[in-house]
Amino acid sequence: RMEKLDCIGSNLIFADYDAVELAKKYGTPLYVLSENIIREKCRKIKLDFLNRYPNTKVAYASKAFLTLSMCKIIESEGLGLDVVSGGELYTALKADFPMDKVFFHGNNKSYEELQMAISNEVGRIVVDNFDEIEIIDDLANEMKKKVKILIRVSPGVEGKTHKYISTGQKDSKFGIPLLEGSIDEAVIKAIKSKNIELMGFHFHIGSNLFDKDSYTLAIEIVLNLFKWLKNELGFVVKELNTGGGFGIYYNKTDTVKDITYYTDAIMEKVSSYCRELNIDIPTVIIEPGRWIVGEAGITLYSVGAVKEIPNVRTYVSVDGGLPDNPRPALYNAKYEAIVANKCNLKPDRVVTIAGKCCETGDILIWDQLVPKIERGDILGVLSTGAYNYSMSSNYNKLPKPAVVLLREKEECVIVKRETYEDLISKEMIPEGLAVKK
Ligand code: LLP
Repeated sequence: RMEKLDCIGSNLIFADYDAVELAKKYGTPLYVLSENIIREKCRKIKLDFLNRYPNTKVAYASKAFLTLSMCKIIESEGLGLDVVSGGELYTALKADFPMDKVFFHGNNKSYEELQMAISNEVGRIVVDNFDEIEIIDDLANEMKKKVKILIRVSPGVEGKTHKYISTGQKDSKFGIPLLEGSIDEAVIKAIKSKNIELMGFHFHIGSNLFDKDSYTLAIEIVLNLFKWLKNELGFVVKELNTGGGFGIYYNKTDTVKDITYYTDAIMEKVSSYCRELNIDIPTVIIEPGRWIVGEAGITLYSVGAVKEIPNVRTYVSVDGGLPDNPRPALYNAKYEAIVANKCNLKPDRVVTIAGKCCETGDILIWDQLVPKIERGDILGVLSTGAYNYSMSSNYNKLPKPAVVLLREKEECVIVKRETYEDLISKEMIPEGLAVKK
């Protein structure tokens, strides 16, 4: 079970805050995020990775959770930011995030997005395909800028995770395949482009990985490319970005490891293999998203209908579900929940936690052990800090929950709850639509 959970009286305490009180005060569903946990994660990365190994950098993968406040936390911790769209870049800009610490990703960046990235002088553009090199070179020429890039490669390594979030395999939409020879062409093109400075390479094998071997295998493959570039072109690679993907705690079946399990393996492999190949050790960059914010969040729901199908199953329905957390439906992700107002009672029955959407697949948790649970109870689902708010939708016209940040002294709303009015605020009715024909 996660640290930062406690039970006082009958109430669940998350990161020193009473979950039942929070639900009462702000309503449900409610995203709750602990500033302390996020900062502790950032500091752990600093201590165990940045401070231990020279020439290293960390960029927080903002797709996991991005708001203006999150940008401020990441900035104050001194980390960089990985963005993948004009919208994420816009958010970072509005938060005054230092642009030189931004990595701009994406397998299909639009012309406008590239323009935005170049004019705002983002630190690195991570090129994902061949023609992007030309577009960047042209744009940079027009804007009289020199653009630093990394080339994302697809190392042909499978990440042991759900198929939808495995990205390093040969058959991946991301990166330039390493094994097919097209990489040589891309590199030569980048080196020849006057307005581009090729700094290095990037790979990201997948997300929520619990195994270091796919990282070290990919590192070997990519460093062989570095060697080839040195020998054939006399080109010295300065940077290697090994992506994110470090797994976190969702439920008891997860074999969670310390971050150093991955980072030590990455650094050990980079330095030993560089020595073996007789090439310079590059600056190593990692891009954790889920690892930084996932365990810092819980979602609070109110229990509504409880339906027992005798000898089959008991459904406990809550006031959110698929729109605030699509991960169970999308990836068969497994979560764990605690009845927040009954944490002192012994769980004695197994129920299924259902969302309120018109979808049989809108089930948050199959087979959760709980104490006697009834309408009005508050349920806390754990580890929802990453890829919940950022992937939320308004399906069934459900307003998105508020996000409350638990600070040192008091909690603050960092995203307001949507209203019904918000739900139709972008809608327009063409004239004459109501006229009967
Ligand atoms: N770097 C790149 C280039 C990425 O594509 C990603 C994630 C990351 C870093 C951060 O990965 P993390 O450390 O958060 O695992 N929606 C899915 C996850 C998709 C991740 C996509 N890329 C989910 O809910 O599991």
